[in-house]
Amino acid sequence: MTEKKGRVFSGARPTGRQHLGNYLGAIQNYVALQKEYDCVYCIVDIHALTTVETTRNLKGNTMEMALDWLAAGIDPKDSIMFVQSHVPQVMELHTMLSMVTPWGKLIELPTFKEKIKQQPKNINYGLVGYPVLMSADILLYKTDVVPVGVDQAPHIEFARETVRSFNYRYQTDVLIEPQMKITRIPKVIGTDGKQKMSKSLNNHIELASTPEETQKRVMTMKTDPQRLRRNDPGDPDVCNVYSLHKIFSGEEEVAMINSECRSAGIGCVDCKKRLAANMNVSLAGFRERRAEFARHENDVWDILHDGAARARTIAEQTMVEVRQAIGLP
Ligand code: TRP
Repeated sequence: MTEKKGRVFSGARPTGRQHLGNYLGAIQNYVALQKEYDCVYCIVDIHALTTVETTRNLKGNTMEMALDWLAAGIDPKDSIMFVQSHVPQVMELHTMLSMVTPWGKLIELPTFKEKIKQQPKNINYGLVGYPVLMSADILLYKTDVVPVGVDQAPHIEFARETVRSFNYRYQTDVLIEPQMKITRIPKVIGTDGKQKMSKSLNNHIELASTPEETQKRVMTMKTDPQRLRRNDPGDPDVCNVYSLHKIFSGEEEVAMINSECRSAGIGCVDCKKRLAANMNVSLAGFRERRAEFARHENDVWDILHDGAARARTIAEQTMVEVRQAIGLP
C-alpha cells in the first residue's frame, strides 16, 4: 500500500439526488482526493435534523446520495463512507466539546445568523450547536484536512479554536487542529441563469436524470437576456448554456458555439440541444453505474454499515483518549 498524506474528512447533508452543482463543487473533489489521502466521507443525517421539517425522506435521501457518491467514484474499499448517526460517539464528543465552547461565539457565527433568518420559527438548540457537532465530526477522526466550500470556512476555523480550547483546558494534545482546504468551486448557475444551482430553487439538473429529463431541463435554460430573436447576435460570456458547454463539450465545439452565437449563426434552441446531448454522453457511464448500485440497495446499506464499523473503531479510540484527558472517573 502506498503511503497517504494524511486523513481527509468531509460531510454533506442527505439532500437526496445530487445535481450538477453538487458534483462539480464537491463530489468530484472527494473522488480525486482518494488518491492522496485516507478519506472519510460522511452523510450527516443528525445535522439534517436541525433544519428538516419532516424526517419522512431522510432514509430515502440518504440512499439516493449514497448511490450518487458511489457511482461518481467514491471507492468504499479505499475510503470510509458512512452515515453520521451510525457512529454515536460523535454525539458524545459533541457534548464534551460544548463545555469548552463559549455561547457568545456560536450565536455570532455568520452561518447561524443566516439560518435564523431562514427559519425564524425553528431556532432550536441543535442549530446553535451545529458547528460544535461539525467540529466533533472532524476531530473524532483526527482529521488532517477538511475540503469544504468557502461558506464553511468559519466552521473550520471554529473547529480549530475548539481544539485549542479543549487541549488547553485539559492540558492534553489528543485533539489535532485540522487544516482547511478550500475547494475552488466553479460557481454552477442554475437553469434560471441567475442563481446558484440548488434543489430548493428548483433550477437544478440531477446527475441521475434520464436523458429525456435532462434535455427537458436544458431546454428551459435561460440564455443571454439581450438575445430576444433568433437573428440577434448573442454574448456567450453572459450565457449559462455556454458556461456548461465549456464543461461538457469538446474544445472545438465550444469555440464554434462561441463564434456562431456572436454572429447569430446558431440559435439558442440548437445550442441547448447540443449541450443536452453532450451532457448525456458525459453522464452515461455514471448513470449506468448508479442504476447497477440501485438494483442492489441492500449491498449499498452493507457498504454504509461496513464504513460505520470502520469509523467506530477510530472514533472509539479517540473517545477513550478524550475521556481520559478530561479525567472522567
Ligand atoms: N456543514 C457542512 C455543510 O453544510 C456539512 C458538514 C457537516 C461537514 N459536518 C462536516 C463538512 C464536517 C465538512 C466536515 O456543507
